Amino acid sequence: MNSADLRKKFLEFFKKNEHTVVPSSSLLPTDPSVLFTTAGMQQFKPYYTGDADAMKDFGSLSTASVQKSMRTSDIEEVGDDTHDTFFEMLGNFSFGGYWKKEAITYAFEFIASVVGLEISYVTVFEGSDVVPKDEESKEIWKSLGVTDIREEGMEDVFWGPTGNNGPCGPTTEIYCKNANGIDVEIWNIVFNEFFCDGSREQLLAGEAKLTPLEKKGIDTGMGLERLAMVAQKTTNIFDTDLFLPILDQVPDADLRLRRIVADHLRSAIFLIADGVLPSNKDQGYILRRLLRRAMTYGRMHHFKKEIVDNIVEATLSIYEGTYKELEEKKEHVLSVIHEEGRKFGETLEKGLKELEKMENIDAKSAFFLYQTFGVPFDILKELSGKEINQKAFEDELKKHQELSKTASAGMFKGGLADHDEKTIRLHTAHHLLLSALQELFGKEVKQRGSNINQERLRIDFSFSRKLTDQEKKHIEDMVNEKIQQGLDVVKREMPKEEAEKIGAEMEFGVKYNNIVSVYFIVPMPEASRIRDGEAIGKDIMDKVFSKEFCGGPHVKNTSELGHFKIVKEEASSQGVRRIKAILE
Ligand code: GLY
Repeated sequence: MNSADLRKKFLEFFKKNEHTVVPSSSLLPTDPSVLFTTAGMQQFKPYYTGDADAMKDFGSLSTASVQKSMRTSDIEEVGDDTHDTFFEMLGNFSFGGYWKKEAITYAFEFIASVVGLEISYVTVFEGSDVVPKDEESKEIWKSLGVTDIREEGMEDVFWGPTGNNGPCGPTTEIYCKNANGIDVEIWNIVFNEFFCDGSREQLLAGEAKLTPLEKKGIDTGMGLERLAMVAQKTTNIFDTDLFLPILDQVPDADLRLRRIVADHLRSAIFLIADGVLPSNKDQGYILRRLLRRAMTYGRMHHFKKEIVDNIVEATLSIYEGTYKELEEKKEHVLSVIHEEGRKFGETLEKGLKELEKMENIDAKSAFFLYQTFGVPFDILKELSGKEINQKAFEDELKKHQELSKTASAGMFKGGLADHDEKTIRLHTAHHLLLSALQELFGKEVKQRGSNINQERLRIDFSFSRKLTDQEKKHIEDMVNEKIQQGLDVVKREMPKEEAEKIGAEMEFGVKYNNIVSVYFIVPMPEASRIRDGEAIGKDIMDKVFSKEFCGGPHVKNTSELGHFKIVKEEASSQGVRRIKAILE
């Protein structure tokens, strides 16, 4: 069965079973908390939560679709037998309509009768502290004659949420064998029973709350490339009709490299057709990364730039009649890829020459090549023939990012800052918060990042565990007390050594000049003394609540701030917590 047949048969099967067929949405989702559409359910999120009415919009409580999707978290795995970045997802969905029995039976019938495949085994949810074991699905599979039923946990058979929150629930997965006899997961059937008020990471860390959804839902996802691999009896996704014509356009080279070039250019074509342009941010950054990886491999093997045109042609022919935007945007797609190639080509050439001269690539030189010439790190790692210490490279990168983040935010150096009133108030509250954290947990708590906009402040700080509700309340009370006391905020320019001596907080990763400005938050009498240029002795210091190296701007007095409230406390990275807070 070719892939066009698989798509067609899938939609026909579900249409016959009273599903409304809905077209694929864009690769760029409306949900701002995710970069790309990664699953078919994403365009249906409001129907699960009750924010939209499926009956009204689709004339049915069930829908089916073939969804363009993009997942780049495993980008370095691309080139093996099963990983790609762009893929199509076949899915059927129910919003308060049918439930487990129908969902499992449909999947079984489609796989076994329509496509004629043998199911190797299935998985069901083994249960957790909060969600019971899925006995019901187990019984349904048994009644259909499936005997190999494996129980798995939260990491593997519990879906969602996508983004910052959303529907989620236990899943059951179907595995079939490919031509090598290797079991491949092809279909994931999700039982959306809960609304999760946090991200998937928070859910797995036990930091998010599950609330039963009013109407239970079904959400399924079956990757077309993997289904094609099993149905077309190939050993890998690249030998299916979804990839082979593209791969044929990539000149002879190492197989993995050819697959990477084919995958990355195919993804780039779809992204550009959906409106993404290469940039250094968000979706544009991912597109740039895909293109640069493909181009670097191409350059290293002296591929001619005409192969881009051939790959675009091959991609268009595979999807002819399925995604008309590709044909419509063909010229635009070609010009974006060639333009990026032209811009990147020159620097890359220099970078590769530099690289040739180097006897050894260590983390520092890798960072130099990456930073100056844009040579992707993962490729450098491969070229060097030995391990570049990834951690050391990442530390270099982080150092650089911290510096540019602070510079571009401008919050702590003055100059570039967003000086509107709300941001300024939050900036002062940010100082109070850091001091409150140190008062409660000790001076070893250090700021590790920050971001302020008109709505909220965000602080990352070194601390190794979740804060308790009492601790959060205590911190809020402390900050609000300082607001009520009406403390003055006063600036003093001073030599760096002196500021260090009095223990003023420095921003992590920032290099300071010899003369720095320090903001003090302190009661009125002492504030006047600081303003008047008096030496800052112990008697003043005892009264100071906060002191930070900072360029401002700030409010004059904390009484201008309003009521301080923590809205979120979460893990940011290993040993670093993140607080988001607002002023009401
Ligand atoms: N939403 C189900 C899946 O993507 O596997």
